[in-house]
Amino acid sequence: MIDKIKEIARDAEKKIANAENIEELNKLQLLYLSKKSTLMSFMSEMKNLVGEERAKFGQLINSVKQDITKRIEEKKKILEAKALEEKLKKEVIDISLPGYNYQKGTKHLFQRVVDEVSDIFIGMGYQIAEGKEVEEDHFNFELLNVPKDHPARDMQDSFFIDETKLLRSQTSPVQAHVMLEKNGKGPIKIISPGKVYRRDDDATHSHQFGQIEGLVIDEHVSMSDLLGTLELFVKKMFGEKREIRMRPSYFPFTEPSVEVDISCFECGGKGCPLCKHTGWIEILGAGMVHPNVLKMCGFDEKKYQGFAFGIGIERVAMLRYGVDDIRRFYTNDMRFNEQFHKE
Ligand code: DAH
Repeated sequence: MIDKIKEIARDAEKKIANAENIEELNKLQLLYLSKKSTLMSFMSEMKNLVGEERAKFGQLINSVKQDITKRIEEKKKILEAKALEEKLKKEVIDISLPGYNYQKGTKHLFQRVVDEVSDIFIGMGYQIAEGKEVEEDHFNFELLNVPKDHPARDMQDSFFIDETKLLRSQTSPVQAHVMLEKNGKGPIKIISPGKVYRRDDDATHSHQFGQIEGLVIDEHVSMSDLLGTLELFVKKMFGEKREIRMRPSYFPFTEPSVEVDISCFECGGKGCPLCKHTGWIEILGAGMVHPNVLKMCGFDEKKYQGFAFGIGIERVAMLRYGVDDIRRFYTNDMRFNEQFHKE
């Protein structure tokens, strides 16, 4: 029996050493150490032995059992490490391969200018009002003091959808919507950026372009408030050294109306091709809200006054960033768009 046990020990040592994977090893564990294994079945023979023989026999079986257990554990560690190594090898990522070149988006210059202008006015306590691009004639013209057949309609050659609706030719109708919503109660302090449409097409005019409308209504609002507001805006947008001047103009919905110029940032006012040698660049239209507009939009024109202005988004962007053709904003040429990546 002792020989048999020794043989089992040798046999186990060899087989465990030769095991190639965990499954094989698990089978060997069952074969040598389970209750039904030959080795363990020898345990039951112990009862037939006595004294020293019994002790020796018990020790032998135990030491063989311990030896096999140890060998299996050690082998298990080796096989597990090997399995892990193989798995890692299979999953290895070849970092020397060139990666995919994902194109990173940039904010479009148009939107960037909208955000910059909006930030400046939000900083002065303005709120953003939204308008709609398909507008009623009533709002686009009539409530703005431009009745049917008024010659001022010719200033804005428009796209009509039917008799009463058009693609808005200006953001000014937002003024009328906001005033009517307010039900005759001031104050109002809003800007409204958005797209407008006119039948224009050349290097500085597009059939679709952007405007930012501004409207302030309150008691005791004067022309000097308008001047101060625009001066602050211009200095923030174009630099502290810029000055502004107002020239008389005409818009049906303001009285008086002005056109606002800024001192040329290219030549500092001396005269250059950008400012057409005048030292000044026109940037927006503005004025005091016409009493007729206040009245039609539900405000008491004796109690309330207001000022309004309309800024051309592309115009500001073209001046500020030196863009030569308005069509660059819409052709989606990435070489153009990527130049205005800020970060
Ligand atoms: N809506 C005018 C235009 O498109 C711009 C404008 C001028 C807006 C004077 C105003 C304003 O609010 O007061 O030509």
